[in-house]
Parts: sequence; C-alpha cells; structure tokens
Amino acid sequence: MKEYDEGLARDYGSRWTIEEEVREAAAGALSDAPGRILDAGCGNGLLLVRLPPDAFVVGLERSPWMIDEARRRAPRSRFVIGDLARLPFRTNAFTVAAAVNVLWGMKESDARRGVGELARVAGRAVLDYRNRANPGILLRRGRDARNPFHKISVDRFRGWLRAAGLTWTERPIRRPWSRGFLGALLSRVPGWAPHLLAEGRRPLPL
Ligand SMILES: C[S@@+](CC[C@H](N)C(=O)[O-])C[C@H]1O[C@@H](n2cnc3c(N)ncnc32)[C@H](O)[C@@H]1O
Repeated sequence: MKEYDEGLARDYGSRWTIEEEVREAAAGALSDAPGRILDAGCGNGLLLVRLPPDAFVVGLERSPWMIDEARRRAPRSRFVIGDLARLPFRTNAFTVAAAVNVLWGMKESDARRGVGELARVAGRAVLDYRNRANPGILLRRGRDARNPFHKISVDRFRGWLRAAGLTWTERPIRRPWSRGFLGALLSRVPGWAPHLLAEGRRPLPL
C-alpha cells in the first residue's frame, strides 16, 4: 500500500472513488455499535466522523500524516500509531473493530494476520475486500499487476475470516448510478460487485 505523506494525507478522499461507498456502508454497519470502537487504518478520519458520538473511538494508523489530519477532523477520537497486523491492544479490548479500505492494499501475509488481529481485539469486526472478478478491477490488474489486492480472491479473504474464528454476513458494495451507467450496471451483476463488506462475529470467547 502506498505511503501517505503530508500532501496525500490532506488530499485523500477529496475525489470520489468506490471507497466512499464502502465507508458509507461501514458507517451504517457501525451506527448501532456500543462501547469501544477501533478504526484500524483510520486514514485521515473520514470514517471516524461518522461513528456514533457516544462511543469511545480509537483510530490506529501507520502514517503520522494521516493521524494529524484525522485528529483535526475527529478531535474527540483517540489515536495510536501502529500496525494493523500487530495490534498493540489486549484481547477483547474493543466491542467492534473496523478495517475499511485497508486490508486489500496490504501485503498478503500482513492482511491475513490483520484479520486475526481484528478478531482477537474485538468480538465483532467490520471489514471489506475487493473483488477481482469485477470487470473494472480485472482490467486494472493488467496495468497494475504488482498491487497486492489484485492477487487475492474473495474466497481467499473468506478463508481468512474463517481461520480467525469469525462467522459473518456479507453485502455487495456497488457503484452508484450517478458515477456512470455502465460501471454501475456491471457492478450489479451477481458476483461482480467491486467490494464486499463483511460483518463478522466471533462466537467463541478467547
Ligand atoms: C486507503 S486508506 C483508507 C483510510 C480509511 N480507512 C478510510 O476508508 O477513509 C488506507 C489507510 O490504511 C493505512 N494503513 C495501511 N497499512 C496499514 C497497517 N499495516 N497498519 C495501519 N495502517 C495501515 C494507510 O496509511 C492509509 O491511511
């Protein structure tokens, strides 16, 4: 995943991408979240500001530039610089842990480990994965073959959820019609949604 410096941190999210739809869906899934919420890979705070105002919220980020922006945007949240693949929190420290628009950009071994970490620190996890079967993403694979998310199939992501002890529900994230007819139509073909948002629960206590 690219390194976010000062300029990128300020600009991130200013142009619409499908990531905005993912964020919005994740905010909906978290709208009833009580207690302590971890937003792992919180970026410049675009999800943090949509979380319930009465929750105790922690944003974890590896980029200090992103944290600076997030703190400006969501001053009531707490922040930690750290690595999603090695979360510096105790088991069950949170009620819910989110990783939104993050895992698919990480090195595969770290992303897999990160899913386990989310499940460890909270009994509930909200996360998304990219669907490389989507034609738009498929076309980009040729241009950008080294990007890690192009190598990971949805089934492999699902295997990581299973290995982390999570059971989950999944919902497709589609392009809105306002962003182009063809892309929106293709994203509605079964199996072709560009992202999937999973809400997982860990039934067994750790
Ligand atoms: C595409 S941005 C998404 C930000 C935010 N979740 C959102 O949807 O607005 C991905 C963020 O994850 C952070 N990130 C990537 N790998 C990370 C890791 N291993 N640990 C913590 N943060 C990470 C990046 O620095 C970046 O800010």
